[in-house]
Amino acid sequence: MGYSVAVVGATGNVGREMLDILAERLFPADEVTALASRRSLGTEVSYGDRTLKVKALEHYDFSGTDICLMSAGSAVSKEWSPKIAAAGAVVIDNSSCWRYDLDVPLIVPEVNADAVAGFRRRGIIANPNCSTAQLVVALKPLHDRFKIKRVVVATYQAVSGAGKEAMDELFSQTKAVFQINEVAPKQFPKRIAFNVIPHIDVFMEDGTTKEEWKMMVETKKILNPKIKLVATCVRVPVFIGHSEAVNVEFENPVTADEARDVLRNAPGCIVIDKHEPGGYVTPYECVGEDATYISRIREDATVENGLSMWIVSDNLRKGAALNAIQIAEILINRKLITAKRKAA
Ligand SMILES: NC(=O)c1ccc[n+]([C@@H]2O[C@H](COP(=O)([O-])OP(=O)(O)OC[C@H]3O[C@@H](n4cnc5c(N)ncnc54)[C@H](OP(=O)(O)O)[C@@H]3O)[C@@H](O)[C@H]2O)c1
Repeated sequence: MGYSVAVVGATGNVGREMLDILAERLFPADEVTALASRRSLGTEVSYGDRTLKVKALEHYDFSGTDICLMSAGSAVSKEWSPKIAAAGAVVIDNSSCWRYDLDVPLIVPEVNADAVAGFRRRGIIANPNCSTAQLVVALKPLHDRFKIKRVVVATYQAVSGAGKEAMDELFSQTKAVFQINEVAPKQFPKRIAFNVIPHIDVFMEDGTTKEEWKMMVETKKILNPKIKLVATCVRVPVFIGHSEAVNVEFENPVTADEARDVLRNAPGCIVIDKHEPGGYVTPYECVGEDATYISRIREDATVENGLSMWIVSDNLRKGAALNAIQIAEILINRKLITAKRKAA
């Protein structure tokens, strides 16, 4: 007997990816329900070779649900996650709403799977920001071996990280540029086609953006509170796949060869690092892939024990949908949850 799984935000970028991944990984679900806003009532989404009719979140009864994969933004999560958890389902949430709550574990399975047990306090588990997820997958094995002191990261983030309407905007603006039409920005503060924008989420008082703040706070919560991190988050005209140029300072000496060896043996990591044209991974190549790819690994002689590298991953998968489903798999594999129907 399998689990009853609800996907909230099933018509969105992350929700559709969740349905694909549930089917791909043969997730032990007896029942999968696609939920979204009232606007999507009755529309169809794919789940493997099946088609699901979308139901409205506000009218759904979660009393039979075991796992709710939530991906409908912070406001929806703030209102609904506690109600869904109270109905007895574990909520795995993709928004930023619960990530910083001390009673909610923030999980990247390759990094801090053991912390998942804390889900019982609220019935909610948070998924990190997409840029944080791929970063900590690569940093964790290096931290275990060489102990990280400080990280400087610049991101190159795909438009899909801002939702399906943001992807439409890159597409329509790109077309408009070729047709010499107007390219008025709506989803982004400036034109995104043939441009880059050094601003994601709102500005904080100290001049950093919330996206940059999230990377710092989430890395501390997931990996180690002593790690110092400064980020510059940039939106680029790429549909899917976030890239990061990362500079790390360690407490202990490190060589590029040692780092490559550590990363080659690390869960979730694939090293592609040839010193020749094309001997590295670009976002286009990581679309639909589960791994975090690490390239351009080199020593940084400008600081003591420094290393620079390039990290790329599919933001809709490891950055969101895949990570959430890996968390659900941990709950099942470690027998932390039981299917309600089985229990009945
Ligand atoms: N994209 C990424 O790389 C990424 C990574 C990590 C985390 N996240 C987070 O994941 C969440 C979803 O992102 P996304 O990229 O999938 O966004 P999206 O493509 O814009 O999709 C949003 C989804 O939420 C649903 N929704 C909106 N308002 C709702 C309501 N009142 N009740 C029920 N459902 C509602 C939408 O349904 P309708 O179609 O009916 O409007 C749609 O299915 C966000 O919190 C985002 O920050 C995204």
